[in-house]
Amino acid sequence: MSKALAGYRILDFTHVQSGPTCTQLLAWFGADVIKVERAGEGDATRGQLRDIPGADSLYFTMLNHNKRSITIDTKKPAGKEVLETLIKTCDVLVENFAPGALDRMGFTWERINALNPKMVVASVKGFGPGRYEDCKVYENVAQCAGGAASTTGFEDGPPLVTGAQIGDSGTGLHLALGILAALLQRHTTGRGQKVLAPMQDAVLNLCRVKLRDQQRLERTGTLHEFPQYPDGQFGDSVPRAGNASGGGQPGSILKCKGWETDPNAYIYFITQAAVWPAVCKVIGEEGWITDEAFATPQARLLHLKPIFKRIEKWTMTKDKIEAMEILNGYDIPCGPILSMKEIAADESLRASGTIVEVDHPVRGKYLSVGNPIKMSDSPTEVTRSPLLGEHTVEVLEQLGYSGAQIAALRAERVI
Ligand code: COA
Repeated sequence: MSKALAGYRILDFTHVQSGPTCTQLLAWFGADVIKVERAGEGDATRGQLRDIPGADSLYFTMLNHNKRSITIDTKKPAGKEVLETLIKTCDVLVENFAPGALDRMGFTWERINALNPKMVVASVKGFGPGRYEDCKVYENVAQCAGGAASTTGFEDGPPLVTGAQIGDSGTGLHLALGILAALLQRHTTGRGQKVLAPMQDAVLNLCRVKLRDQQRLERTGTLHEFPQYPDGQFGDSVPRAGNASGGGQPGSILKCKGWETDPNAYIYFITQAAVWPAVCKVIGEEGWITDEAFATPQARLLHLKPIFKRIEKWTMTKDKIEAMEILNGYDIPCGPILSMKEIAADESLRASGTIVEVDHPVRGKYLSVGNPIKMSDSPTEVTRSPLLGEHTVEVLEQLGYSGAQIAALRAERVI
């Protein structure tokens, strides 16, 4: 079967997580992704958090599937020449170096645009233009600067970062979308363009409901669905809301049977207004269906703490999967807190290809997250990440380099 991005060639000048997430997606959609790495060293993540001596780390392998790897020292003149040839033959250059690194290497936007006016040049940076534009940034810096940390955690605790890599992988997703839009626009303009996804901005985009709440707070002085209401005090910025739902339907994480010993014996329970009578029936509080203190969503906002305490009395009598099954029978939205161990074994995720087992020549079999985006006419087959420089000769030959030229590049330690 054909692939959505078949025929597109990506010069993947990315490293660590944000950029590689983006180019891995493009590879999964069928693009030919050529990852350029520094000769001898490669992407730093190859050696980070290693669990098997001598084998590329899971950090690297899980972010670089379906790509080819070529090593070039792009600071040497002969290496720059190879990069130029690649620029002329690729559709997109993706990079996430520290601000200014590509320019210092001699590859400014103007230069790349002159070499290949059709090329889309896509970058992840920590911050967009402004006072922090020169800063290096990693995941948690973006979570803190993008509004996620100040709005995550409990009222009486410090700001918290989340386990989801919204700064890195979240920005990679944003960048991939920008690249696809730029490629579409190229059909009409015939031109490439610069695409920038700053990590702070991407995190803020994912936190937009909190900016919504900031404005609601400033206008009304309160936020009725927050745990601080009705007893607590609100300051002048959006407080941390614990596990309260971020939307119009109140929700909370509740204990299930076994919570004393199992750190994940919990369920997320949403008291959606449409199924309030069913919630009352399930927990044995039929009187609450008509009791005016509980009958309307507005009234319930004043009593969310006792309501969830009472529901928890019920969830504590069931294990989380049992509770999920019962509640789904009534269309009550809920979600068990699944551990990574449980997710790794999930049959549905395996069947859909979102959890995949990949074989690697050095590390053997390992689990990875496959393409979460499912396309009926462009299915994803996840293949292993490349070894460092595995495709250097193959790619150079495709670019027209002769055996003697490749040998010369090797002798000069360019590749
Ligand atoms: N050949 C020769 N030199 C190469 C090369 C190659 N193939 N590939 C990279 N380099 C050089 C760069 O030119 C740069 O050199 P310079 O500093 O002398 O100009 C150097 O390697 C290191 O690049 P840098 O990006 O500064 O790496 P770092 O490890 O110091 O910083 C980050 C890592 C992630 C903090 C930084 O790249 C960054 O802030 N990136 C943007 C935001 C981002 O994506 N962060 C999330 C990462 S998950």
